[in-house]
Amino acid sequence: MPRTLIVSNRLPTKVLRTDDGLTFQPSEGGLATGLGSIYRQGDNLWIGWPGLFVQDEGEEQHIKDELRDDNMAPVFLTEDEIRDFYEGFSNSTLWPTFHYFSEFATYEQTHWEAYVAVNQKFCQAVLAQAGPEDTIWVHDYQLLLLPELLRQARPEATIGFFLHIPFPSQELIRVLPWRTELLRGMLGADLIGFHTFGYMRHFLSAVTHLLGLPAQNGQIETPNRSVRVDAFPMGIDYERYAQAAVSKEAQQHEAEYREALRDTRVILSIDRLDYTKGIAQRLRAFDLLLQRYPEWQGQVSLIMLVVPSRDQVPQYAALKEEIDELVGRLNAQYRTISWNPILYFYRSLPLEELTALYHLAEVALVTPMRDGMNLVAKEYIASKGDQRGVLILSERAGAARELSDALIINPTDMSQLAEAMHDALVMPEEEQQTRLSAMQALVKRYNVFSWTRLFMNQLAYTKMKQHTLA
Ligand code: UDP
Ligand code: G6P
Repeated sequence: MPRTLIVSNRLPTKVLRTDDGLTFQPSEGGLATGLGSIYRQGDNLWIGWPGLFVQDEGEEQHIKDELRDDNMAPVFLTEDEIRDFYEGFSNSTLWPTFHYFSEFATYEQTHWEAYVAVNQKFCQAVLAQAGPEDTIWVHDYQLLLLPELLRQARPEATIGFFLHIPFPSQELIRVLPWRTELLRGMLGADLIGFHTFGYMRHFLSAVTHLLGLPAQNGQIETPNRSVRVDAFPMGIDYERYAQAAVSKEAQQHEAEYREALRDTRVILSIDRLDYTKGIAQRLRAFDLLLQRYPEWQGQVSLIMLVVPSRDQVPQYAALKEEIDELVGRLNAQYRTISWNPILYFYRSLPLEELTALYHLAEVALVTPMRDGMNLVAKEYIASKGDQRGVLILSERAGAARELSDALIINPTDMSQLAEAMHDALVMPEEEQQTRLSAMQALVKRYNVFSWTRLFMNQLAYTKMKQHTLA
């Protein structure tokens, strides 16, 4: 039976070293949570890094055995690789560049060399597992070279690639010293998918301008093959969130939160710690709301969940300090004995607590400076069975292309953001329902299962066409 091999840097399970030994937990981030619902189907396999440095062969074997039972195969990274490939090239060069934060990007030859070496390591790991009929589906910016490496080893293989982050204007790609290698690496795939048509257009323009390859109607002609490029906005496992939000456990959590908050209204924000997410700007906008509309003081709290992420990268560590400082200052300024303006949590939460928060919150504030898609926005919609709640969404999140019934804002416009919060808090219930039900229908229909089907069907079709033309 042909299988699908999903390949990404991070596995959907992360291994942590605790006092009690190794523990296995769900990974955070849209790629892992989104695909987490589909990889278990059939005999599929997910190849990736389990998220920690392992020195001991016994530990490696233990992790391999545990993950094998759950259709996962680990690729272990050394400490140097974690520093130079993961924190270095992936998260200090590609991540800032692709999110329009070029001023944060570093260009280190040693990081590039580690990136090449780790992509080769992943290639070997895939080749060790892949049968000739298997479909290989590579994910995200950490593995841009992998499709071409696999193509060289297996010219006939069926290879798909999906980018989970924005693909920026070619003006930004141009800045990267290794731009041609990166683009050629992606072109090893038969089908390349992006979240939006905008990202896809940027990619096509980079390929024509920087590689001089002809591209028309989403088709790129390389000297050996044609490569298909298309937009596939990623969805979520709608029912998982809809059901979790009304589960007994979530309802209990929600009741506890409600009791502690009494009748305080709740604005919610949930993100990984990341400068792309607009967390500090959001805090400043909340400050502006309280200044401009003092009647909300004592009445509204911002619950802000920040999930620890990449904190060894200097920009992330600096952001953490900035957030701590801002929250401290704002809470000290506005707090009363019975009211906290900002309830700030720096940790990750299990699904039932997450969906309890989604269900409880009257307003969700999703205001990234740039975001490939943003699944939190869709999860909020799915968790709102009672159709009460307002989503405030940045125009620069991929999700804004689909969720046009949200209050769409420019995340750098503090005044607009403060006004949107006020509008959300006073929005009549009927309008909330109209907007939410339209978005629920869309998120329910274009879920992660239909997303996978669309991508896989298109990949099979592309391969078939290549064969008939050959
Ligand atoms: N998330 C999580 N645990 C938490 C908070 C968030 O697993 O405590 C998940 C959240 O449910 C969502 C993902 O992390 O599925 C974040 O994905 P998103 O696309 O919004 O942003 P990304 O982190 O991929 O940039
Ligand atoms: C985003 C990226 C993923 C990444 C996730 C978490 O969703 O697109 O590739 O896995 O963030 O980041 P991390 O660095 O912890 O894997």
